[in-house]
Amino acid sequence: MKVLSVASEVFPLIKTGGLADVAGALPLALVAQGVEMRTLLPGYPAVISALSGPSFVHTFENLFGGRAHLLAARHGALALFVLDAPHLYNRPGNIYSGADNLDWADNAERFAALSWVGAWLGRGAVAAFQPDIVHVHDWQAGLTPAYLRFGGERGAPSLITIHNIAFQGRFSPAIFPRLGLPDTAFSSECVEFYGDVSYLKAGLACSDAITTVSPSYAREIMTEAFGMGLDGLLRHRGAHLSGILNGIDTTIWDPAADEHLPHHFSQRKMSGRAACRAALESRFGLLGTGPIVTVISRLTHQKGLDLLAESLDELVSLGCRLALLGSGERTLEESLKNASLRHPGRASVVLGYDEPLAHLMQAGGDVILIPSRFEPCGLTQLCALRYGTIPVVSRVGGLNDTIIDANEAALQSGVGTGFQFTGFSRHEFIDAIRRMLEIYNNPDVWKILVRNAMKSDVSWSRSSGRYAALYQTLAA
Ligand code: ADP
Ligand code: GLC
Repeated sequence: MKVLSVASEVFPLIKTGGLADVAGALPLALVAQGVEMRTLLPGYPAVISALSGPSFVHTFENLFGGRAHLLAARHGALALFVLDAPHLYNRPGNIYSGADNLDWADNAERFAALSWVGAWLGRGAVAAFQPDIVHVHDWQAGLTPAYLRFGGERGAPSLITIHNIAFQGRFSPAIFPRLGLPDTAFSSECVEFYGDVSYLKAGLACSDAITTVSPSYAREIMTEAFGMGLDGLLRHRGAHLSGILNGIDTTIWDPAADEHLPHHFSQRKMSGRAACRAALESRFGLLGTGPIVTVISRLTHQKGLDLLAESLDELVSLGCRLALLGSGERTLEESLKNASLRHPGRASVVLGYDEPLAHLMQAGGDVILIPSRFEPCGLTQLCALRYGTIPVVSRVGGLNDTIIDANEAALQSGVGTGFQFTGFSRHEFIDAIRRMLEIYNNPDVWKILVRNAMKSDVSWSRSSGRYAALYQTLAA
Protein backbone atom coordinates (compact mmCIF):
# COMPACT_ATOMS: atom_id res chain seq x y z
CA MET A 1 0.00 0.00 0.00
CA LYS A 2 1.44 3.36 -1.11
CA VAL A 3 0.17 6.54 0.51
CA LEU A 4 1.06 10.10 -0.44
CA SER A 5 0.93 12.46 2.54
CA VAL A 6 0.62 16.20 1.83
CA ALA A 7 1.57 18.52 4.69
CA SER A 8 2.79 22.08 5.13
CA GLU A 9 5.22 21.17 7.93
CA VAL A 10 7.10 18.01 8.83
CA PHE A 11 9.36 17.44 11.85
CA PRO A 12 12.37 17.53 12.00
CA LEU A 13 12.63 19.67 8.84
CA ILE A 14 10.20 22.43 9.70
CA LYS A 15 7.78 22.82 12.60
CA THR A 16 5.43 25.39 14.07
CA GLY A 17 3.22 22.97 16.03
CA GLY A 18 1.96 19.46 16.51
CA LEU A 19 1.02 19.01 12.85
CA ALA A 20 4.73 18.72 12.06
CA ASP A 21 5.25 16.12 14.78
CA VAL A 22 2.41 14.02 13.40
CA ALA A 23 3.41 14.39 9.75
CA GLY A 24 6.96 13.41 10.71
CA ALA A 25 6.12 10.45 12.94
CA LEU A 26 3.18 8.78 11.21
CA PRO A 27 5.13 7.61 8.12
CA LEU A 28 7.65 5.84 10.35
CA ALA A 29 4.93 4.17 12.42
CA LEU A 30 3.15 3.00 9.28
CA VAL A 31 6.12 0.96 8.07
CA ALA A 32 5.17 -1.84 10.49
CA GLN A 33 1.67 -1.80 8.97
CA GLY A 34 3.03 -2.42 5.50
CA VAL A 35 2.28 1.13 4.37
CA GLU A 36 4.86 3.00 2.30
CA MET A 37 4.25 6.70 2.85
CA ARG A 38 5.89 9.54 0.97
CA THR A 39 5.37 13.10 2.07
CA LEU A 40 5.01 16.15 -0.16
CA LEU A 41 5.98 19.41 1.50
CA PRO A 42 6.97 22.92 0.41
CA GLY A 43 10.63 23.71 -0.20
CA TYR A 44 11.07 26.39 2.46
CA PRO A 45 14.72 27.46 2.95
CA ALA A 46 15.06 25.24 6.04
CA VAL A 47 13.83 22.25 4.07
CA ILE A 48 15.97 22.83 0.98
CA SER A 49 19.11 23.33 3.04
CA ALA A 50 18.52 20.14 5.04
CA LEU A 51 18.29 17.91 1.96
CA SER A 52 21.33 15.96 0.96
CA GLY A 53 21.52 14.90 -2.68
CA PRO A 54 17.90 15.41 -3.74
CA SER A 55 16.99 14.06 -7.15
CA PHE A 56 15.08 15.99 -9.74
CA VAL A 57 11.61 14.68 -10.63
CA HIS A 58 9.81 17.29 -12.73
CA THR A 59 9.69 20.96 -13.71
CA PHE A 60 6.47 22.98 -13.68
CA GLU A 61 7.08 25.91 -16.03
CA ASN A 62 4.44 28.09 -14.45
CA LEU A 63 3.15 27.03 -11.09
CA PHE A 64 1.10 29.89 -9.67
CA GLY A 65 3.32 32.58 -11.12
CA GLY A 66 6.77 31.02 -11.36
CA ARG A 67 8.93 28.11 -12.27
CA ALA A 68 9.03 25.20 -9.82
CA HIS A 69 10.87 21.93 -9.49
CA LEU A 70 9.65 18.80 -7.79
CA LEU A 71 12.47 17.04 -5.96
CA ALA A 72 12.62 13.62 -4.38
CA ALA A 73 14.76 13.07 -1.32
CA ARG A 74 15.17 11.09 1.85
CA HIS A 75 15.70 12.64 5.25
CA GLY A 76 16.53 10.02 7.84
CA ALA A 77 13.77 7.47 7.48
CA LEU A 78 11.40 9.92 5.77
CA ALA A 79 10.75 9.66 2.03
CA LEU A 80 9.93 13.09 0.61
CA PHE A 81 8.74 15.00 -2.39
CA VAL A 82 9.82 18.61 -1.98
CA LEU A 83 8.20 21.37 -4.01
CA ASP A 84 10.98 23.80 -4.76
CA ALA A 85 9.11 26.93 -5.83
CA PRO A 86 11.29 29.90 -4.81
CA HIS A 87 8.66 32.51 -5.75
CA LEU A 88 6.32 30.92 -3.18
CA TYR A 89 8.51 29.51 -0.43
CA ASN A 90 11.97 31.03 -0.50
CA ARG A 91 11.60 33.77 2.10
CA PRO A 92 12.87 34.30 5.62
CA GLY A 93 10.99 33.91 8.87
CA ASN A 94 7.81 32.10 9.70
CA ILE A 95 6.36 29.77 7.08
CA TYR A 96 2.87 31.28 7.33
CA SER A 97 3.51 34.94 8.18
CA GLY A 98 5.87 37.83 7.67
CA ALA A 99 7.84 39.89 10.18
CA ASP A 100 4.70 42.00 10.77
CA ASN A 101 2.99 38.84 12.12
CA LEU A 102 0.43 39.04 9.31
CA ASP A 103 -0.19 36.06 7.05
CA TRP A 104 1.85 36.19 3.82
CA ALA A 105 -0.35 37.99 1.30
CA ASP A 106 0.01 35.13 -1.19
CA ASN A 107 -0.81 32.23 1.15
CA ALA A 108 -3.74 31.35 -1.10
CA GLU A 109 -1.35 30.76 -4.01
CA ARG A 110 1.36 29.16 -1.86
CA PHE A 111 -0.89 26.40 -0.59
CA ALA A 112 -2.99 26.04 -3.73
CA ALA A 113 0.30 25.17 -5.43
CA LEU A 114 1.12 22.55 -2.79
CA SER A 115 -2.38 21.09 -3.12
CA TRP A 116 -2.29 21.13 -6.91
CA VAL A 117 0.96 19.16 -6.98
CA GLY A 118 -0.50 16.77 -4.40
CA ALA A 119 -3.38 16.02 -6.76
CA TRP A 120 -1.02 15.73 -9.73
CA LEU A 121 0.94 13.07 -7.81
CA GLY A 122 -2.35 11.52 -6.71
CA ARG A 123 -3.18 10.89 -10.36
CA GLY A 124 -0.05 8.82 -10.72
CA ALA A 125 2.03 11.35 -12.65
CA VAL A 126 5.28 9.95 -11.25
CA ALA A 127 5.77 6.33 -12.24
CA ALA A 128 8.11 5.60 -9.32
CA PHE A 129 5.43 6.40 -6.75
CA GLN A 130 1.81 5.99 -7.76
CA PRO A 131 -0.18 6.29 -4.55
CA ASP A 132 -3.17 4.13 -3.65
CA ILE A 133 -4.35 6.83 -1.25
CA VAL A 134 -3.72 10.56 -0.85
CA HIS A 135 -3.74 11.65 2.80
CA VAL A 136 -3.78 15.42 3.26
CA HIS A 137 -3.45 17.52 6.39
CA ASP A 138 -5.31 20.70 7.34
CA TRP A 139 -6.34 23.63 5.15
CA GLN A 140 -2.92 24.05 3.57
CA ALA A 141 -3.48 20.79 1.68
CA GLY A 142 -7.26 21.11 1.64
CA LEU A 143 -7.55 21.84 -2.07
CA THR A 144 -5.94 18.51 -3.01
CA PRO A 145 -9.22 16.56 -2.75
CA ALA A 146 -10.94 19.32 -4.77
CA TYR A 147 -8.32 19.12 -7.53
CA LEU A 148 -8.64 15.34 -7.48
CA ARG A 149 -12.40 15.50 -7.82
CA PHE A 150 -12.75 18.42 -10.24
CA GLY A 151 -9.55 18.11 -12.21
CA GLY A 152 -10.71 15.67 -14.85
CA GLU A 153 -9.17 12.23 -14.72
CA ARG A 154 -9.90 10.46 -11.44
CA GLY A 155 -6.99 9.92 -9.08
CA ALA A 156 -6.46 8.01 -5.86
CA PRO A 157 -9.09 8.23 -3.09
CA SER A 158 -8.37 10.99 -0.60
CA LEU A 159 -8.46 11.36 3.15
CA ILE A 160 -8.21 14.69 4.98
CA THR A 161 -7.14 14.99 8.60
CA ILE A 162 -8.28 18.01 10.58
CA HIS A 163 -5.62 19.01 13.09
CA ASN A 164 -7.30 22.26 14.01
CA ILE A 165 -10.61 23.49 12.66
CA ALA A 166 -9.85 27.04 13.78
CA PHE A 167 -7.58 27.45 10.77
CA GLN A 168 -9.66 27.20 7.60
CA GLY A 169 -7.72 28.89 4.81
CA ARG A 170 -10.50 31.31 3.98
CA PHE A 171 -9.86 33.77 1.16
CA SER A 172 -11.71 36.31 -0.92
CA PRO A 173 -13.65 34.85 -3.89
CA ALA A 174 -11.34 36.94 -6.08
CA ILE A 175 -8.78 34.14 -5.74
CA PHE A 176 -11.06 31.55 -7.31
CA PRO A 177 -10.24 32.19 -11.00
CA ARG A 178 -6.55 31.69 -10.19
CA LEU A 179 -7.06 28.22 -8.74
CA GLY A 180 -7.57 26.46 -12.05
CA LEU A 181 -10.74 24.75 -10.89
CA PRO A 182 -13.82 24.63 -13.13
CA ASP A 183 -16.58 27.16 -12.35
CA THR A 184 -18.75 24.34 -10.97
CA ALA A 185 -16.27 24.00 -8.07
CA PHE A 186 -17.34 27.42 -6.77
CA SER A 187 -20.36 25.88 -5.08
CA SER A 188 -21.43 24.72 -1.64
CA GLU A 189 -20.41 21.22 -2.80
CA CYS A 190 -16.77 22.32 -2.99
CA VAL A 191 -14.80 25.48 -2.17
CA GLU A 192 -17.52 28.06 -1.66
CA PHE A 193 -18.11 29.03 1.97
CA TYR A 194 -20.43 31.94 2.77
CA GLY A 195 -19.44 33.61 -0.49
CA ASP A 196 -15.70 33.15 0.14
CA VAL A 197 -13.26 30.43 -0.82
CA SER A 198 -12.35 28.01 1.98
CA TYR A 199 -9.61 25.46 1.47
CA LEU A 200 -10.56 23.40 4.51
CA LYS A 201 -14.19 23.37 3.47
CA ALA A 202 -13.12 22.15 0.02
CA GLY A 203 -11.15 19.32 1.58
CA LEU A 204 -14.01 18.32 3.86
CA ALA A 205 -16.54 18.42 1.03
CA CYS A 206 -14.49 16.65 -1.64
CA SER A 207 -12.47 14.02 0.25
CA ASP A 208 -13.55 10.40 0.47
CA ALA A 209 -13.02 10.33 4.23
CA ILE A 210 -12.30 12.73 7.06
CA THR A 211 -10.43 12.08 10.26
CA THR A 212 -9.50 14.27 13.14
CA VAL A 213 -6.96 13.64 15.85
CA SER A 214 -9.12 12.39 18.72
CA PRO A 215 -12.54 10.77 19.09
CA SER A 216 -13.75 13.53 21.43
CA TYR A 217 -12.79 16.26 18.97
CA ALA A 218 -14.56 14.33 16.20
CA ARG A 219 -17.76 14.59 18.24
CA GLU A 220 -17.14 18.19 19.31
CA ILE A 221 -16.64 19.58 15.80
CA MET A 222 -20.06 18.33 14.81
CA THR A 223 -21.53 20.81 17.33
CA GLU A 224 -22.05 24.52 16.89
CA ALA A 225 -19.89 25.31 19.92
CA PHE A 226 -16.74 23.73 18.43
CA GLY A 227 -17.41 23.42 14.69
CA MET A 228 -16.47 27.02 13.82
CA GLY A 229 -19.08 27.20 11.11
CA LEU A 230 -18.27 23.79 9.61
CA ASP A 231 -20.36 21.68 12.02
CA GLY A 232 -23.28 21.44 9.59
CA LEU A 233 -21.09 20.06 6.81
CA LEU A 234 -19.42 17.67 9.26
CA ARG A 235 -22.76 16.37 10.52
CA HIS A 236 -23.75 15.87 6.91
CA ARG A 237 -20.52 13.91 6.32
CA GLY A 238 -20.73 12.24 9.75
CA ALA A 239 -20.67 8.70 8.33
CA HIS A 240 -17.25 9.45 6.82
CA LEU A 241 -15.78 11.22 9.87
CA SER A 242 -13.80 9.49 12.61
CA GLY A 243 -11.32 10.37 15.33
CA ILE A 244 -7.93 8.66 15.49
CA LEU A 245 -5.72 9.66 18.41
CA ASN A 246 -2.26 10.99 17.77
CA GLY A 247 0.75 9.25 19.23
CA ILE A 248 4.27 10.58 19.72
CA ASP A 249 7.57 9.33 18.38
CA THR A 250 8.77 7.37 21.40
CA THR A 251 12.33 7.26 20.11
CA ILE A 252 12.58 11.08 20.05
CA TRP A 253 10.67 11.35 23.33
CA ASP A 254 12.47 8.72 25.37
CA PRO A 255 13.64 9.71 28.87
CA ALA A 256 16.12 6.82 28.84
CA ALA A 257 17.96 8.08 25.76
CA ASP A 258 16.87 11.69 25.07
CA GLU A 259 19.83 13.59 23.58
CA HIS A 260 18.60 16.86 25.09
CA LEU A 261 18.75 15.66 28.70
CA PRO A 262 21.67 16.03 31.07
CA HIS A 263 20.61 12.81 32.85
CA HIS A 264 18.50 9.86 31.80
CA PHE A 265 15.85 7.89 33.63
CA SER A 266 13.24 5.20 33.24
CA GLN A 267 10.40 3.72 35.25
CA ARG A 268 12.82 1.33 36.87
CA LYS A 269 15.57 3.83 37.56
CA MET A 270 14.21 7.26 38.41
CA SER A 271 17.26 8.90 39.98
CA GLY A 272 18.17 10.80 36.79
CA ARG A 273 14.80 12.53 37.00
CA ALA A 274 15.75 14.36 40.21
CA ALA A 275 18.92 15.57 38.48
CA CYS A 276 16.88 16.88 35.52
CA ARG A 277 14.59 18.63 37.99
CA ALA A 278 17.56 20.37 39.59
CA ALA A 279 18.80 21.42 36.13
CA LEU A 280 15.37 22.83 35.36
CA GLU A 281 15.27 24.79 38.63
CA SER A 282 18.58 26.37 37.87
CA ARG A 283 17.68 27.08 34.21
CA PHE A 284 14.52 28.95 35.31
CA GLY A 285 16.01 30.40 38.49
CA LEU A 286 13.42 28.71 40.68
CA LEU A 287 14.04 28.77 44.42
CA GLY A 288 12.58 26.99 47.43
CA THR A 289 10.27 24.01 47.30
CA GLY A 290 6.88 23.11 45.86
CA PRO A 291 5.81 21.39 42.67
CA ILE A 292 7.22 22.76 39.43
CA VAL A 293 4.25 23.47 37.20
CA THR A 294 5.37 23.73 33.58
CA VAL A 295 3.78 25.12 30.44
CA ILE A 296 5.13 24.42 26.92
CA SER A 297 2.81 26.04 24.45
CA ARG A 298 1.91 28.30 21.62
CA LEU A 299 0.44 31.34 23.37
CA THR A 300 -2.91 31.71 21.65
CA HIS A 301 -6.55 32.01 22.63
CA GLN A 302 -6.96 28.25 22.00
CA LYS A 303 -4.51 27.31 24.74
CA GLY A 304 -6.43 29.17 27.47
CA LEU A 305 -3.36 30.54 29.18
CA ASP A 306 -5.11 33.81 29.95
CA LEU A 307 -6.61 31.72 32.76
CA LEU A 308 -3.10 31.14 34.06
CA ALA A 309 -2.14 34.81 33.80
CA GLU A 310 -5.22 35.66 35.89
CA SER A 311 -4.59 32.91 38.43
CA LEU A 312 -0.84 33.02 38.79
CA ASP A 313 -0.84 34.92 42.10
CA GLU A 314 -3.15 32.32 43.58
CA LEU A 315 -1.16 29.45 42.13
CA VAL A 316 2.01 30.76 43.75
CA SER A 317 0.27 31.47 47.05
CA LEU A 318 -0.87 27.84 47.08
CA GLY A 319 2.79 26.77 46.91
CA CYS A 320 3.31 26.05 43.21
CA ARG A 321 6.28 27.20 41.18
CA LEU A 322 5.91 28.00 37.49
CA ALA A 323 8.26 27.40 34.54
CA LEU A 324 6.72 28.55 31.28
CA LEU A 325 8.08 28.30 27.74
CA GLY A 326 5.98 29.73 24.95
CA SER A 327 5.51 32.23 22.21
CA GLY A 328 2.62 33.69 20.32
CA GLU A 329 0.19 36.56 20.80
CA ARG A 330 1.92 39.68 22.12
CA THR A 331 -0.72 40.54 24.73
CA LEU A 332 -0.63 37.06 26.19
CA GLU A 333 3.17 37.02 26.20
CA GLU A 334 3.14 40.33 28.08
CA SER A 335 0.51 39.42 30.63
CA LEU A 336 2.25 36.16 31.49
CA LYS A 337 5.65 37.79 31.69
CA ASN A 338 4.32 40.61 33.88
CA ALA A 339 2.52 38.19 36.18
CA SER A 340 5.71 36.15 36.58
CA LEU A 341 7.77 39.25 37.43
CA ARG A 342 5.66 39.65 40.57
CA HIS A 343 7.08 36.32 41.82
CA PRO A 344 10.85 36.24 41.42
CA GLY A 345 12.25 32.79 42.21
CA ARG A 346 8.75 31.28 42.13
CA ALA A 347 7.56 31.92 38.58
CA SER A 348 9.64 32.31 35.46
CA VAL A 349 8.67 32.81 31.83
CA VAL A 350 10.86 32.14 28.80
CA LEU A 351 9.42 33.63 25.63
CA GLY A 352 10.47 31.79 22.51
CA TYR A 353 10.60 28.45 20.81
CA ASP A 354 13.21 26.05 22.19
CA GLU A 355 13.01 22.34 21.40
CA PRO A 356 15.83 21.18 23.76
CA LEU A 357 14.37 23.21 26.63
CA ALA A 358 10.96 21.64 26.02
CA HIS A 359 12.56 18.23 26.57
CA LEU A 360 14.25 19.33 29.81
CA MET A 361 10.94 20.70 31.08
CA GLN A 362 9.16 17.43 30.39
CA ALA A 363 11.93 15.57 32.20
CA GLY A 364 12.31 17.90 35.20
CA GLY A 365 8.83 19.28 35.81
CA ASP A 366 6.30 17.80 38.21
CA VAL A 367 3.17 19.02 36.45
CA ILE A 368 2.27 20.28 32.98
CA LEU A 369 -0.61 22.68 32.62
CA ILE A 370 -2.85 22.61 29.53
CA PRO A 371 -6.01 24.66 30.14
CA SER A 372 -7.08 24.72 26.47
CA ARG A 373 -10.45 26.09 25.36
CA PHE A 374 -10.35 23.41 22.69
CA GLU A 375 -7.68 20.85 21.88
CA PRO A 376 -7.95 18.59 18.84
CA CYS A 377 -5.47 16.17 20.38
CA GLY A 378 -2.53 17.82 22.09
CA LEU A 379 0.91 16.24 22.14
CA THR A 380 2.55 17.87 25.14
CA GLN A 381 0.42 15.84 27.56
CA LEU A 382 1.53 12.66 25.78
CA CYS A 383 5.20 13.58 26.11
CA ALA A 384 4.52 14.48 29.74
CA LEU A 385 3.01 11.07 30.49
CA ARG A 386 6.05 9.36 29.05
CA TYR A 387 8.40 11.48 31.18
CA GLY A 388 6.38 11.20 34.40
CA THR A 389 5.14 14.80 34.44
CA ILE A 390 1.52 14.92 35.59
CA PRO A 391 -0.92 16.78 33.30
CA VAL A 392 -3.54 19.20 34.65
CA VAL A 393 -5.86 19.73 31.70
CA SER A 394 -9.21 21.07 30.65
CA ARG A 395 -11.57 18.30 29.70
CA VAL A 396 -11.81 18.88 25.97
CA GLY A 397 -10.85 17.04 22.79
CA GLY A 398 -7.79 14.85 22.98
CA LEU A 399 -7.08 15.96 26.54
CA ASN A 400 -10.29 14.18 27.50
CA ASP A 401 -9.24 11.04 25.63
CA THR A 402 -5.67 10.73 26.85
CA ILE A 403 -5.71 11.72 30.53
CA ILE A 404 -7.47 9.72 33.24
CA ASP A 405 -8.62 12.02 36.02
CA ALA A 406 -7.19 10.90 39.35
CA ASN A 407 -10.50 11.01 41.20
CA GLU A 408 -11.27 8.70 44.16
CA ALA A 409 -12.48 5.84 41.96
CA ALA A 410 -9.54 6.07 39.56
CA LEU A 411 -7.07 6.14 42.45
CA GLN A 412 -8.70 3.13 44.06
CA SER A 413 -8.45 1.14 40.87
CA GLY A 414 -4.94 2.48 40.30
CA VAL A 415 -5.48 4.12 36.93
CA GLY A 416 -5.33 7.93 37.39
CA THR A 417 -2.76 9.78 35.28
CA GLY A 418 -3.61 13.46 35.77
CA PHE A 419 -6.25 16.03 36.64
CA GLN A 420 -9.06 17.34 34.47
CA PHE A 421 -11.34 20.30 34.96
CA THR A 422 -14.56 21.07 33.11
CA GLY A 423 -16.04 24.48 32.39
CA PHE A 424 -13.45 27.03 31.44
CA SER A 425 -13.37 29.06 34.64
CA ARG A 426 -10.83 30.21 37.17
CA HIS A 427 -12.78 28.49 39.90
CA GLU A 428 -12.71 25.05 38.20
CA PHE A 429 -9.08 25.53 37.26
CA ILE A 430 -7.95 26.34 40.79
CA ASP A 431 -10.03 23.47 42.08
CA ALA A 432 -8.03 21.08 39.88
CA ILE A 433 -4.78 22.67 41.13
CA ARG A 434 -5.91 22.10 44.72
CA ARG A 435 -6.70 18.45 43.97
CA MET A 436 -3.27 18.09 42.37
CA LEU A 437 -1.57 19.64 45.42
CA GLU A 438 -3.38 17.35 47.81
CA ILE A 439 -1.89 14.34 46.06
CA TYR A 440 1.48 15.97 45.46
CA ASN A 441 1.75 16.40 49.22
CA ASN A 442 1.19 12.68 49.65
CA PRO A 443 4.37 11.32 48.03
CA ASP A 444 3.30 7.66 48.08
CA VAL A 445 0.15 8.37 46.08
CA TRP A 446 2.00 10.81 43.80
CA LYS A 447 4.48 8.05 42.98
CA ILE A 448 1.60 5.83 41.88
CA LEU A 449 0.33 8.59 39.63
CA VAL A 450 3.77 9.04 38.07
CA ARG A 451 4.06 5.30 37.56
CA ASN A 452 0.62 5.15 35.90
CA ALA A 453 1.55 8.06 33.66
CA MET A 454 4.80 6.46 32.55
CA LYS A 455 3.03 3.17 31.86
CA SER A 456 0.53 4.82 29.46
CA ASP A 457 0.90 3.80 25.84
CA VAL A 458 1.49 7.08 24.02
CA SER A 459 3.11 5.51 20.97
CA TRP A 460 1.69 5.33 17.48
CA SER A 461 1.24 1.57 17.59
CA ARG A 462 -2.55 1.44 17.96
CA SER A 463 -3.38 4.48 15.86
CA SER A 464 -1.09 3.57 12.97
CA GLY A 465 -3.13 0.36 12.69
CA ARG A 466 -6.32 2.42 12.53
CA TYR A 467 -4.95 4.59 9.72
CA ALA A 468 -3.76 1.50 7.84
CA ALA A 469 -7.21 -0.08 8.17
CA LEU A 470 -8.85 3.12 6.92
CA TYR A 471 -6.49 3.27 3.91
CA GLN A 472 -7.46 -0.35 3.10
CA THR A 473 -11.17 0.47 3.27
CA LEU A 474 -10.73 3.53 1.05
CA ALA A 475 -8.58 1.69 -1.46
CA ALA A 476 -11.19 -1.05 -1.74
P1 ADP B 1 -0.32 22.66 18.89
O1 ADP B 1 0.02 21.89 17.68
O2 ADP B 1 -1.75 23.06 18.97
O3 ADP B 1 0.59 23.79 19.15
P2 ADP B 1 0.43 20.21 20.30
O4 ADP B 1 0.42 19.90 21.74
O5 ADP B 1 -0.23 19.25 19.40
O6 ADP B 1 -0.16 21.68 20.15
O7 ADP B 1 1.93 20.29 19.75
C1 ADP B 1 2.80 21.28 20.14
C2 ADP B 1 4.21 20.83 19.82
O8 ADP B 1 5.04 21.97 19.78
C3 ADP B 1 4.79 19.92 20.87
O9 ADP B 1 5.75 19.08 20.26
C4 ADP B 1 5.47 20.90 21.84
O10 ADP B 1 6.52 20.32 22.57
C5 ADP B 1 5.97 21.93 20.87
N1 ADP B 1 6.07 23.29 21.40
C6 ADP B 1 5.06 24.19 21.58
N2 ADP B 1 5.54 25.36 22.00
C7 ADP B 1 6.87 25.21 22.09
C8 ADP B 1 7.95 26.09 22.46
N3 ADP B 1 7.73 27.35 22.82
N4 ADP B 1 9.20 25.60 22.41
C9 ADP B 1 9.43 24.32 22.02
N5 ADP B 1 8.47 23.45 21.68
C10 ADP B 1 7.21 23.90 21.70
C1 GLC C 1 -3.04 20.95 16.10
C2 GLC C 1 -3.83 20.89 17.39
C3 GLC C 1 -3.27 19.92 18.41
C4 GLC C 1 -2.85 18.62 17.76
C5 GLC C 1 -1.91 18.90 16.60
C6 GLC C 1 -1.45 17.63 15.90
O1 GLC C 1 -2.00 21.85 16.13
O2 GLC C 1 -3.96 22.17 17.97
O3 GLC C 1 -4.24 19.67 19.40
O4 GLC C 1 -2.22 17.78 18.70
O5 GLC C 1 -2.55 19.69 15.65
O6 GLC C 1 -2.53 16.87 15.45
